[in-house]
Amino acid sequence: MTAFSLNGRPVSAELPEDTPLLWVLRDGLDMTGTKFGCGMALCGACTVHVDGVPVRSCSTPLSAVSGKQVTTIEAIGDARIGKAVQAAWQKLDVVQCGYCQSGQIMSAAALLATTPKPTDADIDAAMSGNLCRCATYVRIRAAIHEAARALA
Ligand code: FES
Ligand code: FES
Repeated sequence: MTAFSLNGRPVSAELPEDTPLLWVLRDGLDMTGTKFGCGMALCGACTVHVDGVPVRSCSTPLSAVSGKQVTTIEAIGDARIGKAVQAAWQKLDVVQCGYCQSGQIMSAAALLATTPKPTDADIDAAMSGNLCRCATYVRIRAAIHEAARALA
């Protein structure tokens, strides 16, 4: 059994330790906001935070989160930065099909936690692993600047 904190609540999973965290979340714990895209750490759709650091949950084994704090899109809006990011996303109407956006928001929130006033280059570097087939990149960049302004 592996125990960890999920969105502030203690949880445990009785699954093999090499089970990808994404499947633990989606199938084991019914948290389906985190999406499966490539399954190979290439697209960012599955991004969650582990102790505040963005990770690809499709390529993170359950054993890696033992005793740690996992945050998903379902709870990112409970934190000040996540709330500002989601508000900016809504204000600038970032989302198109939406499939990639959980991961985009998780990466954006992690960026703003470490870099409160990111430049375009900072944003491009931090977000380069989050792909969007609808090409919402320009609005994502603008929304991150908007969130940074709101948080300042
Ligand atoms: S599904 Fe994890 S990076 Fe694509
Ligand atoms: S909004 Fe459709 S893939 Fe990003």
